[in-house]
Amino acid sequence: MAIERTLSIIKPDAVAKNIIGKIYTRFEEAGLRIVAAKMLHLTREQAEGFYEVHRERPFFKDLVAYMTSGPVMVQVLEGEDAIARNREIMGATDPRQAAPGTIRADFAESIEENAVHGSDGPETAAREIAFFFKPEEICPRTR
Ligand code: PPS
Repeated sequence: MAIERTLSIIKPDAVAKNIIGKIYTRFEEAGLRIVAAKMLHLTREQAEGFYEVHRERPFFKDLVAYMTSGPVMVQVLEGEDAIARNREIMGATDPRQAAPGTIRADFAESIEENAVHGSDGPETAAREIAFFFKPEEICPRTR
């Protein structure tokens, strides 16, 4: 399996609940390494740009309002099959559908406030990582 990178966001509801560490533990226990991280309070322009592909969806305005409602923690995760692995441990978008033991099943309130984001494929991951991080801000593990 290939070593991949994926973009992860711990969303405002989870940051407000003070569970960044608990979610980081899930990443680490899944074999994913945090190779870049920053805390940000997204502007409306940043949130609209990040979720551009969803602009025509009925929930777009609510999604942007939620994602700008408080700080988020943004990180690049690296590991074998990292994109799919991260989506697996996140669980389904709607926490009511998320498998037991996943981050969303354990920590998310609703489909609107669902604790985490993870890139859904290699092209999205490349775009989303570049959206938040310069190449020199990413620290590959050497051991
Ligand atoms: S997908 O796979 O990209 O098509 O995912 P999707 O389920 O369509 O959701 C895309 C992002 O929008 C968020 N979302 C919502 N926000 C507010 N209200 C409603 N009803 C809603 N439905 C979906 C969802 O959490 C996804 O955000 P990210 O950050 O990509 O996980």
